[in-house]
Amino acid sequence: MRRPIIGGNWKMNKGLPFEAADMLKKLIPLVKNINNVDIVITPPYTALIPVIELTKNTNIMIGAQNMYFEEKGAFTGEISPIFLKELGCSYVILGHSERRNILKETDEIVNKKLKKALNFNLNPIVCIGEHLNERETNKTKEFIEKQFRLSFKDLSDEELRKTVIAYEPIWAIGTGRTATPEQAEEIHIFIRELITKVYNSKTAKAVRIQYGGSIKPSNAKDIFKKENIDGGLVGGASLQAESFSAIIEAANNSSF
Ligand code: PGA
Repeated sequence: MRRPIIGGNWKMNKGLPFEAADMLKKLIPLVKNINNVDIVITPPYTALIPVIELTKNTNIMIGAQNMYFEEKGAFTGEISPIFLKELGCSYVILGHSERRNILKETDEIVNKKLKKALNFNLNPIVCIGEHLNERETNKTKEFIEKQFRLSFKDLSDEELRKTVIAYEPIWAIGTGRTATPEQAEEIHIFIRELITKVYNSKTAKAVRIQYGGSIKPSNAKDIFKKENIDGGLVGGASLQAESFSAIIEAANNSSF
């Protein structure tokens, strides 16, 4: 049985310690009785320290939205996995489509970061997903397969099992246009088939695959009901305690 995981990706929002703290003070009591879901929040780097402090001894884990694949040195503006680990992060998002598209991160870069995160025992959440163009030209699976093979290249079976895959169709991110539960489930099944092909069926059954793209309290339940969808990565709706906790509850209920 895979444990659902809900990520709250704040992106470039709530980066000031006081606004991050305001949100968390509302969220912590709302989710304190959630036992069947891993809850992970990824604030901007500038809010990591207060957020880690505030969530100590709670059921909320903290991650970063990105990191670099080197440990230290002349890499102006980059963040080392050592910093994240030492601060108390347990997760890191890698290869988010905004980083791939706007900041030109390639599958090769994502692969290097992924290996480094695993070396430092940071649990990676690796995003993959097609653009609208591939969806409309029926090339979604081809695109996902290429992204999967390159981003996860040379990972051992055990390493892949530690990695969370976030399937995030780019056309559904921040657009209000959600993939239907059936569209999402189809690609989650396809990713498990790919894992079976490259690794084995036991690993395919063990790896957590979450969906991301305009998840809201109103659609969360139907998405999480799908057998192959293990929770979600939430952007916009993770910025308010009420909407985020409602989504977490939907995942908690889907796990029974
Ligand atoms: P969204 O973002 O929920 O605002 O669509 C999801 C994501 O980018 O992870």
